[in-house]
Amino acid sequence: MVGAGISTPSGIPDFRSPGSGLYNNLQQYNIPYPEAIFELGFFFHNPKPFFTLAKELYPGHYRPNVTHYFLRLLHDKELLLRLYTQNIDGLERASGIPASKLVEAHGSFASATCTVCRRSFPGEDMWADVMADRLPCCPVCTGIVKPDIVFFGEPLPARFLLHVADFALADLLLILGTSLEVEPFASLSEAVQKSVPRLLINRDLVGSFAWSSRSKDVAQLGDVVQGVERLVDLLGWTQELQDLIQKETGKLDGQDR
Ligand code: OAD
Ligand code: ZN
Repeated sequence: MVGAGISTPSGIPDFRSPGSGLYNNLQQYNIPYPEAIFELGFFFHNPKPFFTLAKELYPGHYRPNVTHYFLRLLHDKELLLRLYTQNIDGLERASGIPASKLVEAHGSFASATCTVCRRSFPGEDMWADVMADRLPCCPVCTGIVKPDIVFFGEPLPARFLLHVADFALADLLLILGTSLEVEPFASLSEAVQKSVPRLLINRDLVGSFAWSSRSKDVAQLGDVVQGVERLVDLLGWTQELQDLIQKETGKLDGQDR
């Protein structure tokens, strides 16, 4: 389970960190209160702030970091049952983890839906408009086309239901870079069996790690990259991870050209 804290090392602010979090820095977005950026009522009143954020998160603008590549390495080693992410930056996909292994619980920019006729479109169709600060409109009915990001009160993607089988099967739960404040995602942390160890790598102690910890819980508090590097070192995978990162960043450099 991951959240915005795994992407701050890539340069993307998280939501709730005092000072640096997006919810403290919304002047540039011109919204009345932080959560408005993900509220449908506000979106229909003024969709521009959300599309300003969308433009910022344009694929290719930010790159995966050590944390994403560690998760990719788990996948390469066939140790990753599933990666549940709250992030909408697409960096898990960019790190090479296949869509079949991902549950993007708060949606993604990979697809978009007309807010009026509900037709679905590939995400690529809207980027030209988003980058030019134009509202993407439906070619059929001219309604505003909203990327499939889950707003407050909206249902989570159908794939989220995979948790019912996945969490019962897990024999280790990693929780990285999330405040565990947003439901229903946060409660997944309770869904593994009591005998299953849970490892939290995060700046602060969050969720039930703070208020009802289990005997097999381990919390590595501090910077997520340092925590991941320490784990990777203990596993003896440091060289392998470095090689993977070098190979993958080489590919991204090639795409930039
Ligand atoms: P939050 O901003 O709530 O929490 C991020 C967590 O990561 C905090 O506990 C930080 O202390 C920690 N953190 C940040 N940078 C770190 C670093 N470099 N090293 C270690 N820890 C670090 O973000 P989420 O939990 O992802 O909804 O927020 C959940 C949802 O709230 C988001 O998905 C978003 C928002 O409303 C949507 O996008 C729809
Ligand atoms: Zn339409």
